[in-house]
Amino acid sequence: MPTIDKSGEKRNLPTNNYFWPLKRYLDMYKKSLDDPEGFWGEQAKLLDWDKPWDKVLDWKPPYARWFVGGRLNVSTQCVDRHAKTWRKNKVAIYWEGETGDTRTLSYADLYHEVNRFAFALKKLGVKKGDRIVIYLPMIPELTIAMLACARLGAIHCVVFSGFSAQAIADRVNDSNAKVIITANGGYRRGKILPLKEIVDEAVKLSPGIEKVLVVKYTGHEAAFDAKTDVWLSDLMDGAGIHVEPESMEATDPLFILYTSGTTGKPKGILHGTAGYLLYAAKTLQWAFNPKDDSIWWCTADAGWITGHSYVVYAPLALGLTSVIYEGAPDFPAIDRWWHIIEKYGVTIFYTSPTAIRMFMRNGEDWLAKHDLSSLQVLGSVGEAINPEAWEWYYKFVGAENCPIVDTWWQTETGGFMISPCVGIQSYPLKPGSATLPMPGVDPVVLDADGKENCPNTTGFIAIRKPWPGMLLDVYGNPDIYQKTYWSRFPGFYAPGDYSMKDDDGYWWLLGRADEVIKVSGHRISTAELEHAVVGHTAVAEAAATSKPDEVKGEAIVLFVILRKGQTPSVELKKELVKHLRTAIGTVATPEEVLFVDKLPKTRSGKIMRRVLKAVAAGASIGDVTTLDDQTSVAEALQAYEDLKAAAAKSLHHKE
Ligand code: WT7
Repeated sequence: MPTIDKSGEKRNLPTNNYFWPLKRYLDMYKKSLDDPEGFWGEQAKLLDWDKPWDKVLDWKPPYARWFVGGRLNVSTQCVDRHAKTWRKNKVAIYWEGETGDTRTLSYADLYHEVNRFAFALKKLGVKKGDRIVIYLPMIPELTIAMLACARLGAIHCVVFSGFSAQAIADRVNDSNAKVIITANGGYRRGKILPLKEIVDEAVKLSPGIEKVLVVKYTGHEAAFDAKTDVWLSDLMDGAGIHVEPESMEATDPLFILYTSGTTGKPKGILHGTAGYLLYAAKTLQWAFNPKDDSIWWCTADAGWITGHSYVVYAPLALGLTSVIYEGAPDFPAIDRWWHIIEKYGVTIFYTSPTAIRMFMRNGEDWLAKHDLSSLQVLGSVGEAINPEAWEWYYKFVGAENCPIVDTWWQTETGGFMISPCVGIQSYPLKPGSATLPMPGVDPVVLDADGKENCPNTTGFIAIRKPWPGMLLDVYGNPDIYQKTYWSRFPGFYAPGDYSMKDDDGYWWLLGRADEVIKVSGHRISTAELEHAVVGHTAVAEAAATSKPDEVKGEAIVLFVILRKGQTPSVELKKELVKHLRTAIGTVATPEEVLFVDKLPKTRSGKIMRRVLKAVAAGASIGDVTTLDDQTSVAEALQAYEDLKAAAAKSLHHKE
């Protein structure tokens, strides 16, 4: 199990924030656990209901259904209700493209656009319950398309625009989607991403696709097949002002978002309507304390859960003003983000440790060129933030004036689970700790046998009670849902992270306890990588692991056994890298490919992951006595030495 770096000191919250008496948070937290139905029923007043619920929580483990009998529409909550108040002229989105193009959408504009988009989808025959894959760059149409689906009750499934044709097709086929929404292209580091071309490839692998709806964004020509393809603008002809929103059951699904687990195939995480929306909105309020004059910027792409919850649904449900930026953080120069913060006067900034470390490596001079004094609160997500990056973020970005809100959560949880909450509590912070659970969240640390650990002992985090943002299911696969989250510790939701609670009750989240790698905060499973590599004709067997990386957190290392007759070469490594990028996407780019002729295995043929990891990281093997399957320590050590020697012989290739 990992060790903890507690080098950071306790910090009091900077004074520009509100000081809440500790008792206030403790009372609220206690109420949320003692009487979850009363507590969440009270919180649910944040939303405008078409029909109130009959029951706050129906908990039939492992399924929790919130606000049963209640009805509302998510697009109405995020748009219509603000467009009816003084907020109609308030900016909902300041958008900036990578090329410097900008668009500003008020809540009235957004209302108009969502309705026009919904009109277009309706013309295509999209209706309640249909699954729609969205493959768009970070342009306003991404937010608009998601809300338009929600308006009609269609279930969107956003695929990050860095994913490959194969990855799109896998998601289309698993979700049985009939329509893909894309753009002709997008911009990334000055180049055009040929999104439509990638979708065309995906369509060839997706027999169920009937229509491809294309947003015209970049200037370049894209192939067009009149049978399937249709321009969004053509479908909007005759669009009126209003498309009637579908009044949804609170427990109806809102979206599917695929994420990697321990199997070779990503899982479709299914999220619901009212519970999800309420949880995303309340957690944003509690954690970041936004006000009506706040300028909120969450840098995540809407292709990930952070973008779903905190670029699209929560900020809009709260009627906030958000900044959305399309492109790369370092384009055309490393200060692009600081430029944006200064330009729009961003007050709350939420990003990832990997981005912070990238900026840190490039030095503070880039920051000094910009006035960042508008910033009030800073956030972090995706992986544990190392105390060094925390201190840098605190000192140089926040000028020692902004608390760092380190939010621990997952695709499956829908919203923050453990996080400082500048809106409801004023606990001192500890760099590297996500601090305390959110109201309604009841975590424990368990040992391998499921017994509760004493403080300061590392174990597995498990959650005792359901919360409104909890996933509904794994789409089309209840067995996987049950097995992945509810079987490791019966009666508890198992997130799959190592963690520790210290003497002060602060939580330290210590990384994945399963075969999931986090590259720049993005989840990718070793099984998925292995499955993709063995799909290459030259490969007989493969094992994936990771090694620590200064910026990305972890980098992928592959051990590959070639088929008979294949010779290791630098070219072949390059080809395998390319193969992985095509099979999965750029997220899957390995840092190293090592050709070996044997993989370390236990007697029953399971790969010794710990041996792989040690060799990949150039570390010693450490304690191998708990290797399962009765493999002797001597055998494990021998396997380690063999693999180390083979790896050293293998040609090193870096991209
Ligand atoms: C996994 C979830 C949550 C949205 C982005 C990633 C790790 C995430 C933290 C944090 C320590 C963190 C965990 C978790 N993680 N945030 N603040 N401190 N670890 O979502 O792809 O579903 O990944 O990311 O390991 O299980 P995801």
